[in-house]
Amino acid sequence: QRKEELKKMAAAYEGKQAPQIELQEQRALYHLMPPAGWLNDPNGLCWYKGRYHVFFQYSPFTPQGGMKMWGHYSSPDLLHYEYHGIAIAPDEAYDKDGVYSGSAICRGDKLYVFYTGNVKEEGDHDYILSGRGANVIRMESEDGIHFEKKTCILTNEDYPEECTCHVRDPKLYVGEDGAYRMVLGARLKEEKGAVLLYRSEDLLHFRLEGMYTTQEAFGYMWECPDIFEMEGHKILAVCPQGVERGSERYQNIYQSGYYVKDMDELTEWDMGFDFYAPQTFEAPDGRRILIGWAGVPDAGYDSNPMEEGWQHCLTVPRELTWHNGKIYQYPVRELTKLREGEWMPDNTGRVTIPGKCGEIIAEGIRTEQGAVYMDSGCVIKWDKGYVTLSFQDETGAGRSVRNAWVSKVESIRILVDVSVLEVYINHGEVVMTSRFFMKQPDMDVCFEGRAERLEFYRIGGRIC
Ligand code: FRU
Repeated sequence: QRKEELKKMAAAYEGKQAPQIELQEQRALYHLMPPAGWLNDPNGLCWYKGRYHVFFQYSPFTPQGGMKMWGHYSSPDLLHYEYHGIAIAPDEAYDKDGVYSGSAICRGDKLYVFYTGNVKEEGDHDYILSGRGANVIRMESEDGIHFEKKTCILTNEDYPEECTCHVRDPKLYVGEDGAYRMVLGARLKEEKGAVLLYRSEDLLHFRLEGMYTTQEAFGYMWECPDIFEMEGHKILAVCPQGVERGSERYQNIYQSGYYVKDMDELTEWDMGFDFYAPQTFEAPDGRRILIGWAGVPDAGYDSNPMEEGWQHCLTVPRELTWHNGKIYQYPVRELTKLREGEWMPDNTGRVTIPGKCGEIIAEGIRTEQGAVYMDSGCVIKWDKGYVTLSFQDETGAGRSVRNAWVSKVESIRILVDVSVLEVYINHGEVVMTSRFFMKQPDMDVCFEGRAERLEFYRIGGRIC
């Protein structure tokens, strides 16, 4: 009953907000956003019965975030999305304080989703060692739209003794031996992040099989784990919290990256200001696709979109490939269909793309130093292999510079979508995702440097 009430309340609120959408000046057009309120992690990414499904952490009633549910989009082609409302709402004692992050897995004809049922217990607690319930909950669906039969699979009592009560974000996959596996992010009592590995034959009974962590603590908590293979290389992705910030690495408050088996350093997924909690899944044609949250928890957002009643979006879907011991990320090729015409620069490299959505591509860069200037306040510069993304004044809403290294900058592709941009260096060797706030109604771009090919596109049309 509570679930139905929450769903109805959310739908009524979204309905009330709907007329605002066209008026929202900061709203992205081709990055997924909910109809109203707050979004964080992508959840339950999958391909099921002919459609892609993108669920997300959703708190519709306020842009500041609050009680978490799963919102839901689906798409046949990663270009057109249909919104299905709230897929999962907190309506049981074991998820009463939030339907937290999780994943999806197909078995036979059914789709199963697993998530963390968050519980905050009454009384005096520090919420690290006690006071928080972190339950693994399973639901099932025959059509990918309607979910039923909540089953509580694991509770705090089931986790190893070394764990605090922070254990969450189940990610399911099929192991090499054909049995199911589930990884969970954990905070150990010795203030160390870890990943718990469970095994199951039937998606109902789970047995602890092991734990991944580092010898020396790398942060106190690892959120949103993911495990997959890239050309035979085993990848463990995690989001560590509590890692000391550096000027060239780990520049944000919380990190997000991956370990390659037998290598001991975390490689960061994204060097921009706003990226966290990505999840991957396999497309029907075998591509491994990643979607992240273009935001970071506790990063102190107090910018323009809040006044419009929303906050945050997802990144575009990125195809992952393996080159030179590293994962490259590049926008899925479907997205080129969003282009609506090409604009030519003048002989000083300047161009005005009408509107606030566009794409900038420089291939075969021939100058060791150069820059792309956008809307006067945003600059992407390179000097040999050193890349900086910097914002001035209100364009960056308080953010200044992020930097990254590659051996040599050979190509740059920038996706711009009203209040978010994604910069891909060398076809995704390095990516920088950031929110930013253009001042002009059209995109003024200036490319400084020499390249074999420059392309500027306008992108139009709302995808959801
Ligand atoms: C990551 C995270 C997850 C949690 C969810 C709650 O951003 O903190 O660990 O399940 O968000 O919304």
